[in-house]
Amino acid sequence: MIDRALSDGSDRDRGGPAQPLLLARDLKKHFPGKGRWLGRREMVQAVDGVSFSLAKGTTLGVVGESGCGKSTTARLLLHLIKPDAGEVIFDGEAVGAPRGLTIREMRLQMQMVFQDSYSSLNPRATIADIVAFGPRTAKHLRPHHARERAERLLEQVGLRPSFFARRYPHELSGGQRQRVNIARALALEPRLLILDEAVSALDKSVEAQILNLLADLRRDLDLTYIFISHDLNVVRHVSDRVVVMYLGRIVEAGSVGEIFRRARHPYTQALLRAMPSMDPDRRTAAPPSTRLRVAASEPAAPSPRRSARGFPPVSTRSTANTRSPAT
Ligand SMILES: Nc1ncnc2c1ncn2[C@@H]1O[C@H](COP(=O)(O)OP(=O)(O)OP(=O)(O)O)[C@@H](O)[C@H]1O
Ligand SMILES: [Mg+2]
Repeated sequence: MIDRALSDGSDRDRGGPAQPLLLARDLKKHFPGKGRWLGRREMVQAVDGVSFSLAKGTTLGVVGESGCGKSTTARLLLHLIKPDAGEVIFDGEAVGAPRGLTIREMRLQMQMVFQDSYSSLNPRATIADIVAFGPRTAKHLRPHHARERAERLLEQVGLRPSFFARRYPHELSGGQRQRVNIARALALEPRLLILDEAVSALDKSVEAQILNLLADLRRDLDLTYIFISHDLNVVRHVSDRVVVMYLGRIVEAGSVGEIFRRARHPYTQALLRAMPSMDPDRRTAAPPSTRLRVAASEPAAPSPRRSARGFPPVSTRSTANTRSPAT
């Protein structure tokens, strides 16, 4: 069961439910490329004017092909890299602006979980120390209080502290390590989690378990998610709204229904045509690579069952490779 006492998100809710938790305004980041053109260095327009609004308690899916700027956008939101232009507004306060939120204050409220569960964990620290590190350093908790909080968080993410607290990252499976990464991200009691391909490296049964855990956490801790994934089926399942990125820009944005049933942009339509499906009505003779072409609109897909706040549960028995609960 989720421990609500860990979250103090409600009293930090300054603008009320109608105020977006996050606004990105015209974010830009251009990197120097390897090539040269007329004697000048070519620039990669990784993010080229991205704007969106994220409502509190919702999940925004971000999709688009590899290299379209999804991770760069996430890093810009967290100010892990400095934007060339644009601003991030968190619950009504501009991040990094003179009278706004400092980057440190913003990072207490916004955390990220990456795809590679192993490289984001210190191999020489125990699981409990990894999770306790943030509360100890950023929130100045005494070591034994930080340790207690770490153990509660491990419990919350489905890792029994008596078994896992003293273990090291290499002793855990990929799914268990990703649970540790989620616990660590939650340790500072954030209001927004950015999940950058956070379940993409897991096998399907473990992925389903982690998605169910994320749904429970979102509901019980009043979290808001940005869910970045190349897997359109998963994005459709977990998101309330979706933005589609192409060459550093958002080419289409809308509710899940609008994007998956009435996509207007040719690029979104092409992405959807290349999407693997279990629906027999969408069976195609051609392999996926030849289907990634701009084409006529899709037949309407059945809409998934949705709950009011969490996303619908995922069956963890859909694949043969089913493991024990905390895999
Ligand atoms: N530090 C950097 N220096 C130079 N170019 C970069 C840097 N980071 C990203 N890029 C380039 O910016 C573009 C967008 O990269 P990004 O990692 O945001 O893509 P992505 O949509 O997350 O892709 P993927 O789905 O493969 O993770 C790519 O062309 C990438 O090569
Ligand atoms: Mg990426």
